[in-house]
Amino acid sequence: MEKIPFAPPRIDQAVIDEVTAALRSGWITTGPRTKQLEKEIATLTHVPSVLCLGSATAGMELVLRWLGIGPGDEVIVPAYTYCATANVVVHCGAKPVMVDVLPGDGTIDPEKVAAAITPRTKAIMPVDLGGMPANFRELQEIVDDPKVRSQFQPHSPEQTQLGRIALIVDAAHSIGATYRRKPAATWGDASVFSFHAVKNLTTAEGGAVCLNFPPPFDNGEIYKTLNRQSLHGQSKDALAKFGANSWEYDVLEAGYKCNMPDVLAAIGLVETRRYEEETLPKRRAQFARYHKMLQDFDWAELPYYATAEKQSSCHLYLLRIRGITLEQRNAIIEQVMEAGVSVNVHYKPLPMLSAYRERGYAMRDYPVSLDFYQREISLPVFYDLTPAQQEQVVQILATAVNAIADKVKI
Ligand SMILES: Cc1ncc(COP(=O)(O)O)c(C=O)c1O
Repeated sequence: MEKIPFAPPRIDQAVIDEVTAALRSGWITTGPRTKQLEKEIATLTHVPSVLCLGSATAGMELVLRWLGIGPGDEVIVPAYTYCATANVVVHCGAKPVMVDVLPGDGTIDPEKVAAAITPRTKAIMPVDLGGMPANFRELQEIVDDPKVRSQFQPHSPEQTQLGRIALIVDAAHSIGATYRRKPAATWGDASVFSFHAVKNLTTAEGGAVCLNFPPPFDNGEIYKTLNRQSLHGQSKDALAKFGANSWEYDVLEAGYKCNMPDVLAAIGLVETRRYEEETLPKRRAQFARYHKMLQDFDWAELPYYATAEKQSSCHLYLLRIRGITLEQRNAIIEQVMEAGVSVNVHYKPLPMLSAYRERGYAMRDYPVSLDFYQREISLPVFYDLTPAQQEQVVQILATAVNAIADKVKI
């Protein structure tokens, strides 16, 4: 039987042509294509300013550092996410304060967030898990609560100007998602997309920071600062230095090196231009088809992807199997993989990872994340996945679940 991969990128002639054009243009690092991509992503996501970078990780870290977050500060993150969300907090010298997630869609639990706030809290980093936006209205209410504001202790000019805890969204999965009918990226102060190879919209590696800080912040000015910091703090980028007599530049601060090259932006341009018309509808149809195929199995706990408030970008089909243990889940995955279907697990909660266990985080404090993880299997979703392949995935999965259930009685 034909093998089914998990999430191969859509590399067709249009992508090859645009990348070739970038290569032939003579300009392969950050330049016109990256700047054009930023404009088109801002239009797609309705945010004032977008900066493309080498990864979402770099983008989240730049924003936290720009906010002045450092030693002594706390940043609230969900325990159920990819390590990048917490790693960037550690890079800044601050403490990730982990809280549990909601049992429904696995996004950060606002009540747990409220209970975790201290005068040291400088930011909350919700994660739009699998493309499902976090509960932004509740999170906004928390950071705007006069009691919470009154205990906020700013120690940078940016924090003072904001006057409250920042909402920096790990939107790695959620380009194109909506919350209360508005693009999800318009709900945080900053939202950071990932364009990694497996994401809905890819540039092979890459990311984008959507800047949406409230007045009197000038998001265009923040863009300029972050853009400079993404290139060593140079007063001119490579393109600006290229013109006649333009070689001279200054370094205004000890910046980083995480810009997006034009060769990669070329992939992103093709992907962005067909995202709303082709990619999103295709993924939504694939989610709906999985739902239909799985709904009659009483062992299948279907993921949320469209509710009255939230429309997911349909990045990950986070299926859970009712009533199974971790060992049973792993046995099901083994059997499904042996049958040629590539599935995955999103995510091993952060307290289970050595780097965080050794920092003192313990899984017993995050029962919802543990339960989500133990029973979770992500099914393949990608542009060229056919309905027949989806049938095959579900058949193979059902056979594996039944075989394991027979042995161990689910
Ligand atoms: C939830 C989440 N956050 C952050 C990232 C990091 O993205 P990048 O690889 O672009 O840095 C990922 C990537 O897989 C992710 O899944």
